[in-house]
Amino acid sequence: MIDELRLSNSPAPSAQVDSDTFRRVMRSLAGTVTVISTENDGGLHGFTATAVCSVCAEPPTILIVVNRSARTHAHISRRQAFVVNVVAEDQRSVAEKFSTKENDPFGAIPHSLTVNRVPMIDNSSAYLECQVCDMRDVGTHTIFIGRIVNAGVSGKAPLLYYDGQYSKLPTTV
Ligand SMILES: Cc1cc2nc3c(=O)[nH]c(=O)nc-3n(C[C@H](O)[C@H](O)[C@H](O)COP(=O)(O)O)c2cc1C
Repeated sequence: MIDELRLSNSPAPSAQVDSDTFRRVMRSLAGTVTVISTENDGGLHGFTATAVCSVCAEPPTILIVVNRSARTHAHISRRQAFVVNVVAEDQRSVAEKFSTKENDPFGAIPHSLTVNRVPMIDNSSAYLECQVCDMRDVGTHTIFIGRIVNAGVSGKAPLLYYDGQYSKLPTTV
């Protein structure tokens, strides 16, 4: 039984879902773990993210959702470019490093630069390099829409995040 959720087709117009309920429901969505990286004024920046979504294939476009309080936010806004690094299941320490307020998280992480000089984490599951083509603020966050300019896959399985914990894909379903 699903508790405390209004499933009626005609909720009262003033019905609101509080943020705790919202967070609880969002914990039930399994997400692929990524690190969003960028370069600005010679510095390399990045943070762990699951709010990454395909928008369309023609032209190849995705969106990311970034908290305006994240240090990388201003750098993506200025540079108008970023890479989505899909973290591989054996790279949990990478996801952990990029979700803390560590200075220079790239210092100990093997990485390279794309032809556009945006950092890309080595040995990831896949990557998408994007040019920002649109931005929109929603509440505390900004949606950045990115046009894909380079992409690749390695075949390594991705790391997942579900119910507040990192996890791996089961080998069989
Ligand atoms: C699994 C996971 C997923 C996350 N997804 C996002 C996300 O999609 N967008 C976001 O702004 N922050 C997300 N965060 C939070 C940031 O990684 C975290 O706040 C980071 O410290 C922000 O960067 P900063 O420390 O440089 O400010 C996520 C954290 C974790 C652990």
